[in-house]
This record gives sequence, structure tokens and C-alpha cells, in this order.
Amino acid sequence: MTIHIGAEKGEIAETVLMPGDPYRAKWAAETFLQDARLVNNVRGMLGFTGTWKGNPVSIQGSGMGMPSLSIYANELIRDFGAKTLIRIGSCGGMQDSVGIRDVILAMTSTTLSTPSRGILKELNFAPCADWGLLQAAAQAAAAKGTPTHIGGIYSSDVFYDERPDLNEQMVRHGILGVEMEAAELYILAARHNCRALAVLTVSDHLLTGEALPSSERESSFGDMVEIALQAAFP
Ligand code: ADE
Repeated sequence: MTIHIGAEKGEIAETVLMPGDPYRAKWAAETFLQDARLVNNVRGMLGFTGTWKGNPVSIQGSGMGMPSLSIYANELIRDFGAKTLIRIGSCGGMQDSVGIRDVILAMTSTTLSTPSRGILKELNFAPCADWGLLQAAAQAAAAKGTPTHIGGIYSSDVFYDERPDLNEQMVRHGILGVEMEAAELYILAARHNCRALAVLTVSDHLLTGEALPSSERESSFGDMVEIALQAAFP
């Protein structure tokens, strides 16, 4: 047990999928895992462990934003021995070529700051995905026929951003989408010799103002979960 995860040692798999939303963790565990059981309920940040095609998998909510994700990822890695961490979440599209419901595989994540800033100081570390996971996810997405984009994303600290110039720079530099967690996940994975990837579904679009209706969210998020599982166990 840790401060934020009530599971016993051994109750969390080495492979962990991390949605921001704890209810999406529940839905994904009940939909895709066999024998899924609740292993964490502290603060309602639900975590489940089960198997996928015989492979042990946990699905643990991360909460929104890098400070929250950092708490769960640190405890998963340092206290429960997680080795492969895959964020599954939503993002805002930032290029015309990126459509609502498309999947983005985040090769890198640009950020202004992360909880790791304190130790990285003036270093502009380049958070990047694990190549093996990225390659396997790209193959899985291609096999499914899911419209998929691979490239850089932006991990922001601000959802209601009142500095449009920053988003403009991201768009100008080819950033595919914006979310709020991946950069810190990639940095923690690098620091602790783990593998990480963010598989994201485009839920809204900063250029067009479109947004996925909530009724359609689950079905389009399913592709992302399957891609993440296939990437972990190719
Ligand atoms: N997650 C989903 N859409 C987002 C957006 N527009 N900005 C930040 N995070 C998001």
C-alpha cells in the first residue's frame, strides 16, 4: 500500500494503462480485461488488475494534469514495480490534418514545465516515447485501420488557456494535439528505466471548435485501449 494506491504488493501488474478518468479505467477494465478486479479505490482514483490474452494488466486512473499523474506513476514504478506505462486519454487536435476521433501516438511531448522541473532545472529535456511501444502501437493501429497520426504533442498545464500565442506556436511547429499528462510520464519512465507511451483519442479540436459528443466517447475510446494493449503485448 502507498499513500495514494491501496493495492497490496503484487496486486499491480508490470504493465499499467493509465487513463486520466477513473471511470474510464473502470470501463476499460470491464470491457477489455478478463477477471478484472478493483485494486485501488483511494480518493476514488480507481485501479483494476486483470488479464488480457493471458497477460497481467492493470488499469489505474491518473487524474488530470502532470502533478496528479506524477503521484500515481511514481508510486506505480517505485513501490509496485510497474515497467510499462501507457497513457490512454483524450487530447485536443491542433492540425487541420487531425480529425475528431483520430488516434495520436505521441512520439514526443513539448512542455513549458513539469513536476520534474525542480531536478532538471535549466535543462530542456526532450521527453520521448519508448520506440518499441510506439512501433508496436503504429502497427496495431494500421492493422485496425484506425486513422492515426504519429508525432509531437503538447503537454499543457492549463485547460482554459488564456495565452493563445502558445497554442499558435505549437500549431506552427507541427504539434498534433494538446493534453496535460504525457510529458511527465515520459520523463519518469526515462528516469526509472521504464517504457512509456501515450495513445490519445482526439476529443475536441482547437482549430475547428468541434467536440466529440459524450454519447460517442466510449466507442471511439475503445480503439485506443485495444491499440495500447496490442502495443504492450505485440
Ligand atoms: N484534453 C482533451 N482536450 C484537451 C484540450 N483541448 N486541452 C488540454 N487537454 C485536453
